[in-house]
Amino acid sequence: MGEKLFAWSDTYLIGVEELDFEHKDLLDRLNELHLDILRGDEPAVIEACLGEVCTRVAAHFALEERYMQNTRFANYEQHKRQHDQFLDEIYDAVEMFNRGLESSYQEALETRLESWITNHILTSDKQLI
Ligand SMILES: [Fe+2]
Ligand SMILES: [Fe+2]
Repeated sequence: MGEKLFAWSDTYLIGVEELDFEHKDLLDRLNELHLDILRGDEPAVIEACLGEVCTRVAAHFALEERYMQNTRFANYEQHKRQHDQFLDEIYDAVEMFNRGLESSYQEALETRLESWITNHILTSDKQLI
């Protein structure tokens, strides 16, 4: 136990303190989700943790969108569209997850979350400054 799946790396830093702080926090949450799944926690515990990840992702996107508006970021629409599409995708995934708790599906979901978040940080979020 105590194994972290997703290691934070400074290559994820974008240079905006409040956003970097939340990106770190999101990866911490994903590690928590990973550990819950590894431990074989009750579905209700995993569901709650997944719900927390979704809530924080949504709150993070809202903060980032305010940041883009405040700085009059040129690609706001395109960036927001990526956020919206991802939120749709994770809400669909969570619904499927809640219907049938299959372990291979849990892993697929967390891998998908992790790769989306890290890819998005390394490409789109890096353009914010
Ligand atoms: Fe973003
Ligand atoms: Fe972000």
